[in-house]
Amino acid sequence: MRTQVAIIGSGPSGLLLGQLLTDAGIDNVILERVSKDYVLGRVRAGVLEEGMVAMLDEAGAGERMHAEGLPHDGFDVAFDGAHHRIDLHGLTGGKRVMVYGQTEVTRDLMDRREATGGTSIYEAANVSPQGFDGDAPFVTFEHGGKEQRLDCDFIAGCDGFHGISRKSVPADAITNYERVYPFGWMGILAEVEPVSHELIYANHPRGFALCSMRSMTRSRYYVQCSLDDRVENWSDERFWDEIRRRLPADVAERMKTTPSFEKSIAPLRSFVAEPMRFGRLFLVGDAAHIVPPTGAKGLNLAASDVRYLFDGLREHYAEKSDAGIDAYSAKALSRIWKAERFSWWMTTTLHRFDEQGAFGQRIQEAELDYLISSRAARTALAENYVGLPY
Ligand code: APR
Ligand code: PHB
Repeated sequence: MRTQVAIIGSGPSGLLLGQLLTDAGIDNVILERVSKDYVLGRVRAGVLEEGMVAMLDEAGAGERMHAEGLPHDGFDVAFDGAHHRIDLHGLTGGKRVMVYGQTEVTRDLMDRREATGGTSIYEAANVSPQGFDGDAPFVTFEHGGKEQRLDCDFIAGCDGFHGISRKSVPADAITNYERVYPFGWMGILAEVEPVSHELIYANHPRGFALCSMRSMTRSRYYVQCSLDDRVENWSDERFWDEIRRRLPADVAERMKTTPSFEKSIAPLRSFVAEPMRFGRLFLVGDAAHIVPPTGAKGLNLAASDVRYLFDGLREHYAEKSDAGIDAYSAKALSRIWKAERFSWWMTTTLHRFDEQGAFGQRIQEAELDYLISSRAARTALAENYVGLPY
């Protein structure tokens, strides 16, 4: 088998890159380890920057998002029993975000790929990128009980944090930067009207809490929990009691509860691998970087990586110029590190850190007080939250 771009991974990065390439007449094949249903069963983030919204439109996969997604002009930060609105729209000269689940983004991109005849091979085992140091890279894998080989011009490693692409690079060619936070998020999905029509990020002595949503009838809520905590320890009753205790009284009182239908615990981590290009192999999205979910940047960073890589590959094929692919790693990393900084800052400002001591706690309180009293501070938050320019 031969293609122009071999894409490893059928998450948002791989699907979005694949669609833009297909629409530009550049042949590509997606190799995915698990089944389509398994990919669609993952529950993940749900806040899209305008740049990502525009890319989904460009890929012809934006129709349902515009019909069912919820444009948000602001969100609340709550602490000390009160809440304070961050007016994203007013502070950024008219920008907003789109609340639309990653699962839905993935489904729309899969449907579009099918409609435009893109090739995806699901349940491909032992996928292995090879020869990317030279001019004739290829990917080997097993499918349908047979060993297969996909020859290509380039390999896009869109296979997430645990994927094979980053691991295939010699250890001395790559540098990893990492911070692991001493807590996780316990999250639930419930078929109930969200407590507020905008998101609420709460800092409370018992820990962080977040009220988010997937639609006007489906709520997505989280509480900070310890790293050794387990889902089995969290009955619905315990979860609802705990999140209400962490919210201002007026919010807690109007929160509607119902049995949850999904529960999971996720650790929080910041991670960047540099560089993001190794000869004819490119790392894209979670394969190269992880952010803690507090700033809602993970999915959006995947989209900006795809923006830079797609533009570079199009230039390569259409204009016979390698300037774009040569600049890919530096361009992507410059935006990634700003999102890493922002996600670290949101995490640090909104969570309880038991080990930070009284001094650290006072600094955090001053940070929050500064945020609500300074338009400049709120503007910096808003500008990052809606997404820095590509
Ligand atoms: N071979 C083939 N496919 C693989 C392999 C492998 N060895 N390892 C992983 N994959 C697949 C996974 O099964 C998954 O479907 O690669 C895909 C990677 O998708 P994501 O983890 O969703 O990563 P990405 O597409 O970069 O999207 C980033 O996802 O995790 C969130 O917060 C993150 O929202 C962000 C977004
Ligand atoms: C979510 O809805 O899952 C969500 C929203 C905002 C975040 C993180 C997660 O910052």
